[in-house]
Amino acid sequence: MTRPIVVLGIFNADTAYRADRMPRIGETILGQHFALGPGGKGSNQAVAAAMAGGRVHFVTRLGDDDFARTARQTWERAGVTPEVTVDRDSHTGAAFIFLEAATGNNAIIVASGAGGRIAPEDLDTRAELIRSAAVFVTQLEQPIPAARRGLAIARAAGVTTILNPAPAAALDDAMLALCDYITPNETEAETLTGLPVTTLAEAERAADALMARGVGAVIVTLGGNGALYRDRSRSVHVPVISAGPVVETTGAGDAFNGGFAVALSEGCDVIEAVRFGCATAGISVTRAGAAVAMPSRAEIDALLARG
Ligand code: RIB
Repeated sequence: MTRPIVVLGIFNADTAYRADRMPRIGETILGQHFALGPGGKGSNQAVAAAMAGGRVHFVTRLGDDDFARTARQTWERAGVTPEVTVDRDSHTGAAFIFLEAATGNNAIIVASGAGGRIAPEDLDTRAELIRSAAVFVTQLEQPIPAARRGLAIARAAGVTTILNPAPAAALDDAMLALCDYITPNETEAETLTGLPVTTLAEAERAADALMARGVGAVIVTLGGNGALYRDRSRSVHVPVISAGPVVETTGAGDAFNGGFAVALSEGCDVIEAVRFGCATAGISVTRAGAAVAMPSRAEIDALLARG
C-alpha cells in the first residue's frame, strides 16, 4: 500500500464575494454573487491530494462550531483522514475572498482562529504518523514554529518535505534547509528572496537564491504561465495545462501542491509530478470555489492523456 501523505495546515470557511472591484475605505458597493464554501490552504491541499488518489491525513485545529462541522463533512466526502485538535477557546478559521468579476482573480483576508493556535506539540503527538509518510506538506497559515516542527520530524525520518510558503513570510535558513521542495508563486518568491520575479530568468535567479540558503529544489508557480522547476542541475519550464476557460483562481496553488504531492508519493519523476500538479490546477480554475473545485483522479488522468 502507498505510504500516506500528511498535510499540516488550517481550514477556513470561505466567504467569497464577486464584484467589479474592491470597495474603498468608507465605501459600500453592490456585488454580483456570494458563495460560502470550504477553504483554507492546508485543507484545500489535503482535499486535492485525496481526490487525486492520495491516502491523506490532515493535521489541524478547529473550533467547536458550525464551520468545524462543514470541515469534517468536506474531508469525509474527499476521503481525508482528520487529525484534529478541538480548540474550544477559539473559532474555526474563516476567510473573506474578493473575486474580481472580469478575471476570476482574488484578494483574501484570513482570520485563522483555532488554526492560528496550532502548536509544535500538535505535531509531536502525530510524530509517528509523520514518520510513516511518503510526503509531508505544509504552508504558512498556521504559526511558523508548528510548520518548522512538522518539517523537522519529517526530514529526520527521510520523508519528502514540501513547503508551500503561503501566505508569504520571511523564513530563516534553518527552516529552508528542511525543505526538499518549496513552491512559492511569484510574489511569495519575491518576499522570500527580496528579488523581482516577473520573468522566467528572474524566477531562476530567485530559485538559485533559495537553493543557496538550503532548499533542495524550487518550483515557482507562474499562474497562467505554468511553473518553473529548478534544482542544482537543471531548469525546466512546464507550461500551463489548460482544461478550459478560467472561472476562479482561488485554490489553484493548493490544487497544484496537492497533485504534486500525490505524484511524488507514487514515485513519479519530479517533472512528471510538476505536470500532474499543473493538470490538477488547470482543472480547478475552470470551477468556482476552492476545495469544491478539486478534480478527481480520473479527470486529471484524462487531461494529461489529451497531451
Ligand atoms: O489558497 C486559497 C485559500 O486561501 C482559500 O481557500 C482561503 O481560505 C485562504 O486560506
